[in-house]
This record gives sequence, C-alpha cells and structure tokens, in this order.
Amino acid sequence: MHAHQPGPRRRVDFAGLKVPAANYALPSPSATLHLGPDTPDRLDAFYAGRLTVADLSTAETDFLREHFQTQLDAVREQNIDAFERRVPRRYAAARPDAAARDWADAVTAAPHTAPSLLVLGPTGTGKTHFAYGALRAVAETGLRVSWQAFTEPDLFAHLRPTAGRDDEQALQDIANADLLFIDDLGAAKLSDWTEEITYRVINYRYEQCLPGIYTSNIPPKELAAAIGNRIASRLTEMCDRIALKGDDLRKGARP
Ligand SMILES: Nc1ncnc2c1ncn2[C@@H]1O[C@H](COP(=O)(O)OP(=O)(O)OP(=O)(O)O)[C@@H](O)[C@H]1O
Ligand SMILES: [Mg+2]
Repeated sequence: MHAHQPGPRRRVDFAGLKVPAANYALPSPSATLHLGPDTPDRLDAFYAGRLTVADLSTAETDFLREHFQTQLDAVREQNIDAFERRVPRRYAAARPDAAARDWADAVTAAPHTAPSLLVLGPTGTGKTHFAYGALRAVAETGLRVSWQAFTEPDLFAHLRPTAGRDDEQALQDIANADLLFIDDLGAAKLSDWTEEITYRVINYRYEQCLPGIYTSNIPPKELAAAIGNRIASRLTEMCDRIALKGDDLRKGARP
C-alpha cells in the first residue's frame, strides 16, 4: 500500500512490533535518547535488521509501537473523513460486518494476495451496502489505500471516448486503483465496447493481482452469459464469493 510519509526505506520488523507494515516516518534519534544513551544506536541496528524485537527493551518497543500507532491513528482519521466525503449518502450509515473487516485486514496486510470479493444476490439484499461497509473497513485500518467506486453503467459513461482527454489514461487510472469497487456488473446493456472495457479493467486487475469488490444481481448461473465468459472466468478465480439472500430490503423500508 502507499507510503505514510517518505521515510528511509528499511526492513523494520513491523510484525514483531505488532503494527501493520507501512512506510512510517521513523522517530528522530534525539526523540529516543531519554530511553537510554545507546537507544538511538540500538534502534538504528533494529531498523537495519541487525537486532530483533527481542533484543530491544520493553520501553523501546513500547515507544516504537506508540510512535507508529500515532501515525496510523492520524491516517485513520484522514481516511474516514475522506471516505465520508465520498460515500453516497444512502450508504453513509453502512458499517462493516465481520466478513468485511476480515477482508479489509487481508487487503491492507497483503494487497497482492488478498482475494477480491464477488457479492451476488437479488435486488435489494444489501450488496451495495456491504461494499461500502467494506470500503469503510479499509479506511479504518489506518493505511493509505486509494479507492475508486463506480456502478458499471457509470463506469462506461465515464470511459466513453471524450474529446480533449487521454481516454487511455482515464482507463488506466481506474484499472490501477489500489482498490476498485464496480457495482452492478451486468446492469448495462452488453455491447462489444462495454465488454471490451470491462474485460480490460478486470483483466488488468487480474494480471496485477489488485483487490476489488464486484457486485451483481444476476443469478450465478447466468452471469457468464450476461458479462462474457472471459470476464466471468477471471472473476471466479480472483474472487471470494459472498451470497446475499432474502427479501428486497427496500420493500417495507417506509411505512
Ligand atoms: N445490513 C444492513 N443494515 C441496514 N440497512 C441495510 C443493510 N443492507 C442493506 N440495507 C438497506 O437496504 C436497502 C437496499 O440495500 P442495497 O442498496 O445495498 O441493495 P443491493 O443489493 O445493492 O440492491 P440492487 O441489486 O438493487 O443494487 C438500502 O436502503 C440499504 O441502505
Ligand atoms: Mg446495489
């Protein structure tokens, strides 16, 4: 995932410290002197991999953990603010369930091995709600992750050839997002062009092992026919499937 702040690139044992790996700013040596006269040198050796967490004193590991945790907390707050500015109003109250949290942790811990999610279920069963809850869960991890969200019809509208714009770059920007949410696969009318766009975006993410959330209300057996075999095949391999069942939650939502 993205760097917190530019800092020296070193192999800090974050797992040993029990903080998520990220490119944190390291504490300045003078800020650690109060822990002991040789603490700056010992920490330097730790950052360089010559000392392990076990070699540090409790005061030193506590100090480091808190130093990194403070940065995570600051980013978490920024992330949640940014998320709340972007989430559609309807889904502002969506909160992650346990499955969404587990997925967010997997995505932030190892973005290139985490599965994507294919959320299927009939209309009104909470697919979009689930997806925004999962995006919030990623924001709440405190790691910087850029995300893009589109309904499939809006994605096509956005990528329609546009005069005065580099259309290829527009596609790349979406295909390359740390995290991509495409809602309502199969909702737009299929044409050679729509199939090519979806294929190129999904295939890029497939090849680069980039995580995403994809939803559809098309029954699983009909999905391949609706979105194209090659796209459906890739989604099957790259995604964990979440099946939402039940009645349309919109019915009876108002008295
Ligand atoms: N777990 C939940 N808790 C509270 N409200 C929910 C929950 N899941 C869904 N809702 C609400 O139910 C309604 C339908 O949910 P949502 O829009 O996510 O359905 P959907 O499966 O995406 O439907 P569609 O296939 O038509 O896009 C929304 O008003 C949503 O806010
Ligand atoms: Mg929806």
